[in-house]
Amino acid sequence: MHDFIRQLPKVELHLHIEGTLEPELMFELAQRNRIDIPFASPREVREAYRFSNLQSFLDIYYQGANVLIHEQDFFDLTWAYLLRCRDDRVMHTEIFFDPQTHTARGIDFATVVGGIRRALDQGQAELGISSHLILCFLRHLSEAEAMATLEQALPHRDRIIGVGLDSSERGHPPEKFARVFRRARDAGFLAVAHAGEEGPARNIRGALEALGVQRIDHGVRCVEDPALVRELAQTRMPLTVCPLSNVKLKVFENMQAHNIVELLRQGLCVTINSDDPAYFGGYMTDNFLAVAEAHTVTRQELAQFTLNAIEASFVSEEHKQAMA
Ligand code: HPA
Ligand code: ZN
Repeated sequence: MHDFIRQLPKVELHLHIEGTLEPELMFELAQRNRIDIPFASPREVREAYRFSNLQSFLDIYYQGANVLIHEQDFFDLTWAYLLRCRDDRVMHTEIFFDPQTHTARGIDFATVVGGIRRALDQGQAELGISSHLILCFLRHLSEAEAMATLEQALPHRDRIIGVGLDSSERGHPPEKFARVFRRARDAGFLAVAHAGEEGPARNIRGALEALGVQRIDHGVRCVEDPALVRELAQTRMPLTVCPLSNVKLKVFENMQAHNIVELLRQGLCVTINSDDPAYFGGYMTDNFLAVAEAHTVTRQELAQFTLNAIEASFVSEEHKQAMA
C-alpha cells in the first residue's frame, strides 16, 4: 500500500504557500534578511509546533512569515514546495497565498505575486507541474481591508485564478465578505472559502449562499447537518480536506476519528490535501499514508481521492481528461 500511495499521481487543492516554510528555510531567510526570530535553531522552531486549536497555529504561522521580504524569498519558498510536489507525484497544484500578511508589513503585492508566480512558471517548464494561484482574504480583518486587497489584485487578474477566505473562522462568518466576493466574481475570479473547519456547518451553507463558492475548504463539520451532507453529495460540491492539519489542530482527536473515508463513501467529492505541511507534519504523500494507516481503504478508494481532485480542480476539461 505504501508503494501504491507513493506512486499514485496526486492533485493538491488546499495548500497555503506560507505554510510550506520549513524551519531551515525560515532560519536561512532570517539571516539573509537580518530579521530577529525568537528561536535558537530549526529544532527549537519544530518544538514550538504544538497547537491546541486553529488560533494557536495562526499566531505562530503569521510570525514565521515575517522572514519573507524580497521577491526572491517568495520564489525560494514556492520552489522548495514544488520540489516536494515532484517527490510526491503531485501533477497539479492550486495554491493559496495571504497577501495581507505581507502588505501589512510594507511588502508590495507585486513582490509577493511576482516571486510565487515566477516559481510556478518555472515549475511548469522544468518539472511539468501545472498550477493555479488563489488569493485568500484574512477573515479576522475587516471587509474594507479585504476590498482594498481585491483592488490591488485586479491588475494581476491574469495571474490569479480565484479568491478564498482563511484565518480565524470563529466569529468571522462568510457573510462578512459577501460584497467582496460579489465584486471578485464580477471581476472574473473563481471563489472558494474555508468553512466548517472549526466553525459550524452553517458556515458551509453561508459560503455557498453568500459567497457563491465552487469548493469548500475543509468542510468536515458538514456532518452536523445531515441534510447538508446529502446536498453536498448530490451537487458533488468539493471539500478540500486536510487530514494531518485537522488532527494537529484538534478538529479530530486522532486520525481514526477523522470522517474523510465516511464522507467519501457517502459520495461526496472529498479530496486529500496538506494545508500547511511545514507546520502539520507532512506533504501530500504523508497525508495519504496517514489516512490509509488509520482507516481500512482500498486502492480504488485512494485513487478516487485523486479523481475527485481532478474533478474539483480549476483546469480546463481538456486538461482534466489528460490527468485522469
Ligand atoms: N484554516 C484557516 N486559516 C488558515 C489555515 C487553515 O487551515 N491555514 C492557513 N491559514
Ligand atoms: Zn487551509
